[in-house]
This record gives sequence, structure tokens and C-alpha cells, in this order.
Amino acid sequence: MKRKIVVVGLGYVGLPLALLFHQKDYHVIGIDVDDDKLVKLREGRSYISDISDDQIGWLNASGSFEYTGDFSRVSESEAIIICVPTPLSESSDPDLSYLKGAMQSILPHLRPQQLIVVESSTYPGTTEEEFVPLLEQHQYTVGEDVFVGYSPERIDPGNLMYSLENIAKVVSGATTGCLERIVGLYQTVFRTIVPVSSTKAAEMTKLLENTYRFINISFINEIGRLCEGMGIDVWEVIEAAATKPYGFTSYDPGPGIGGHCIPVDPLYLKWKANLEGLETPFIDLAKSINDSQPVYVMGRIKQLLAECNRNDRVRILQIGLAYKANIADLRESPSISLFLLMVAEGYEVDYHDPFIPSFTAGGHEYHHVPLSEEVLNEYDCVVISTAHQSVDYEMILRAAPLIFDTRNCYELAYSHVAKL
Ligand SMILES: NC(=O)c1ccc[n+]([C@@H]2O[C@H](COP(=O)([O-])OP(=O)(O)OC[C@H]3O[C@@H](n4cnc5c(N)ncnc54)[C@H](O)[C@@H]3O)[C@@H](O)[C@H]2O)c1
Repeated sequence: MKRKIVVVGLGYVGLPLALLFHQKDYHVIGIDVDDDKLVKLREGRSYISDISDDQIGWLNASGSFEYTGDFSRVSESEAIIICVPTPLSESSDPDLSYLKGAMQSILPHLRPQQLIVVESSTYPGTTEEEFVPLLEQHQYTVGEDVFVGYSPERIDPGNLMYSLENIAKVVSGATTGCLERIVGLYQTVFRTIVPVSSTKAAEMTKLLENTYRFINISFINEIGRLCEGMGIDVWEVIEAAATKPYGFTSYDPGPGIGGHCIPVDPLYLKWKANLEGLETPFIDLAKSINDSQPVYVMGRIKQLLAECNRNDRVRILQIGLAYKANIADLRESPSISLFLLMVAEGYEVDYHDPFIPSFTAGGHEYHHVPLSEEVLNEYDCVVISTAHQSVDYEMILRAAPLIFDTRNCYELAYSHVAKL
């Protein structure tokens, strides 16, 4: 009989993880509270661009992958892996309501000797301060009759170079026994396991990785602004700097940082640090640069239009709304911020994004505009904000009268292309 696991939260993280466990011959029960997702999965339709409908079809045909909203199925498994969202609250503090909600739904169905693993990104101390005490309140002794681990998820949606199985997996346990249990399970699935000494260290590892990225991208955006002010091509400078074989990691400027992780996780760290009386000046500065980047880009577009004498009834076609290339995720997308800034400026703005058929903002529904030379000709300017691979950039170059390129899609110089 196959070993059985439950994955709670079938989103960008949970669904690929569930798929991997299934590939490794586990019987997987996926639990989600979103009925729409469950219906799509049962009908063999994927809602994640890295997973095809065919893959969902094969899962369904296998008979060893089930989707449900019923938490009582938790009792059948040897391990429960939690991959629910960890967003920010309105006041930009950690919102653990999804994690706590999932834990509350699991609790009535727990069986002795089960392993619970949290994979959602969160601040250091969450597992130790929130979940271990909760289990103890329910008369469990963690490390004896129930086991708790934390393993940060490092998946990079849209990145086909690194498969989930090949990304080293940092794991931790609330006790030594918990660590042994999570290592035992995860080494049957992942190539490389990296055990760390505490759940706090594992939680911090994830926040270090994402805060490092947050600060570096914000810094390169500052360098971009400096280069612009000094008449230097920032892209040329980055390319030259990247030839150094050590000590320099290349980051690209852009309209800002988006997604459910990079702009969010540093604020989890800041919240926890501030709570403990510690300051986070790097995070604070990076946040202020990142928050103002769409406004900066908007200023550059306005300047470009003025230089080209395009001031009245300006029509703009924006390329890409998702927060990064090749995925359909709009969460915290700076491209959306830029879109709305341009609308507020009075421009007539449409968008082309093959991953986003429509989106609603300010009570208005906008629809993806398919590209053609005729369509491109109708706009005063094309703004490239997210560079999906499938977009025909050659056609845009041929047919658009003016282009503002925030992603270095055009490396050569063209008279009608301005770059960030
Ligand atoms: N998206 C990424 O690239 C990425 C990468 C690494 C880590 N993470 C982290 O992983 C976690 C999940 O992120 P995601 O992008 O997969 O989110 P997501 O929104 O794509 O998926 C989360 C899923 O959890 C479900 N859910 C919410 N509450 C639930 C509950 N109480 N019970 C069961 N299901 C519930 C939602 O319906 C949704 O399908 C977050 O902490 C995130 O920071 C995300």
C-alpha cells in the first residue's frame, strides 16, 4: 500500500509539491477551501501555468491523487504539509489567519504519531510560539505523540531551470525527534536535504533569502535612477559588472518588486524584529525605494511623451501585468500599480498579457488586447513592464511608434525605444 500524505493549500506552492510527492509514489490527498480550484482540478484543468492540463488529467487517472475540502481526511495520512498564504494585513503586519485557520481545521482530525510540516513563509518563531503551544493546549506532547517541522518552500514559479525536486530542501523540527521525522519523509522526495538546528533558523533562512533579493533589487533600481541622472546606460553597466567572476551578483532594474513573497517576507521580518526592539534600516529603505518605483517609471514615461510632443489624448498599450514573466500571478504586481498610475494620469491605457485574460480595478474591467501590427499602430506608446517570453517583441519593435522598455527587451539602440 502507498504511503499517504495530505497537502493543505493547493496553490503555487502546494499543487507542485503535491504533484512531486505523487511522482514519488505517495497517495496524495490535497485539501483546499477554494471550491473553484477543486472543481477545476476534478475537471482536469490546471490554474497554474507551470502545470499542464495533461498533468492534472494523469493525476486524476492514477487513482492515487484526491482533492477535497474535507479536513477529516487528515486522519488517513502519515504527514500533513501546510502551504496556505501568509499575506500582510491592512497595516502591513503578518496575517497568520490562513495558517491558524488551517491548523484549527486540522486539529480535530489529528491522529497520534502524525507529522505536521509548515511550508508557508513566516517570521522566525511562528512554529515555536504559535503552533507548538496550540498542540500542547490540545494535550499533545510535541516530539512524542505528534511531530512538528518547518520547511521553507523555495519554488520559483515560471522558472523551468530548477525543478522542485532539485532545489535543496531546508528542514527543521521542533525537537530532535521531529527533525528525524521530517528528514525521513523529505529525503524520499528531494535530492538534497539541509537540516538546520531549529524551526526559527529555518524560518529565518527563508526570510534572509527573500529580504536579500528585496534589498538588492531595490538597490539596483536606485542605481538605475542614478545612471539615468548621469546619462549612463544602466544595462550596459550591469552587463559589464557581471563579468566579474566573484563578489557580484547581477540583479535587473524594473518597475518594482511584486508577488506574494519578495515584497511581503521582509515585512514579516521587520515586524518581528521591531517587536523585539530591533531596527531594520535596510528593509525600510528598500521598501521606500520599491514603493516609489512605479511612480518613478510613470515620471519617465511622462517625460518621454512630452519630449515626443505626445500630450493630448495619449493612448498607451502596456505589455505584461503579472508581477514577473511567464506566470499569471497579479499579487502585489508593480505592473498593475503602473497601469493604474497611467490611468490616473488621464491616459487611455490597454494591456496585452497572454496570461491575464481580464482584470478589474476601480470598478472597471479591462481585457487583454491581442497583438497585431494594426493594433500596435493605434497607440502612442507601448510600455513593456513584464516581459513574458511568448510576446512578439520583434513585431512591437516594427509596428509601435514609441516604446518604453523597463525590461531591457531591446539590447540595441533604436531611435523610437527608450529604456529604464
Ligand atoms: N508563490 C511563490 O512563488 C512562493 C514561493 C515560496 C514560498 N511561498 C509561500 O508559500 C505559501 C503559499 O503561497 P502560494 O503562492 O502557494 O499561495 P496561493 O494563494 O497560490 O495558494 C494557497 C492556497 O491555500 C488555500 N487556502 C487558504 N486557506 C486555507 C485553509 N485554511 N485550508 C486549506 N486551504 C487554504 C487557498 O485557497 C489557495 O489555493 C505562502 O506562505 C508563500 O509566501 C510562495
